[in-house]
Amino acid sequence: MIRSLCRKLLTQKSITQVRQFHRASPLCSGQLYVHRDTPENNADTPFAFTPENIKRCELIIKNYPIGHQAAAVIPLLDLAQRQHGWLPISAMHVVGDMLKMPKMRVYEVATFYTMFNRNPVGKYFVQICTTTPCMLGGIGSDLILEAIKKNLGINVGETSKDNMFTLIEVECLGACVNAPMVQINDNYYEDLTVDDINGILNDLKAGKVPKAGPRSGQNNRFASEPKGGLTCLNTPPTGPGFGVRSDL
Ligand code: FES
Repeated sequence: MIRSLCRKLLTQKSITQVRQFHRASPLCSGQLYVHRDTPENNADTPFAFTPENIKRCELIIKNYPIGHQAAAVIPLLDLAQRQHGWLPISAMHVVGDMLKMPKMRVYEVATFYTMFNRNPVGKYFVQICTTTPCMLGGIGSDLILEAIKKNLGINVGETSKDNMFTLIEVECLGACVNAPMVQINDNYYEDLTVDDINGILNDLKAGKVPKAGPRSGQNNRFASEPKGGLTCLNTPPTGPGFGVRSDL
């Protein structure tokens, strides 16, 4: 249909007048949407929540009204992943049974959110942002990516032989002001230079957890804030009634 429409347009207008069609790449993460059974990831992969995590699950489920317990699926899948290191399909089944959800509903959530690793990953999951602000900010994510590959001896999508590091490329992680940046497990490392990223990876290899946050030396910088200090919201809030007529 679209092809015949294009052909019609081409015959009517010169090529330069024809508006081009674009469509986004169908693959939005490094993972396959579908599940393929593997020796380490199949319905029989051993998984059960620990007694402590069962208590956590019960508390999480209680946050939701009766009849809407399925809303707990994301925190429960996250807990399963934190316990196991990644999310096998058998863990999805356990979560589905706990929440009385059809398995397919759980798969839909687990395959939609790229935070769920449906295949084994290394102890340190290195996600480098290569979206435009990180590509252009500071020394740029290209140099950081090259430094990571060289330091770890792996390419994007690979896990190191000792199962310590997995490297993936991701889209914006919401810390663009502090570009370039990487996320390693739950920590953000920002304002990176090649020395910074090498130092961070070497610390992790040595069993140390480097301090998270910006590396720009601005100690007053806590999160995504401008390097030169705050340019707005820099006075105490005025409180209720500010600017309102006194006779009201
Ligand atoms: S573009 Fe990298 S964090 Fe937003």
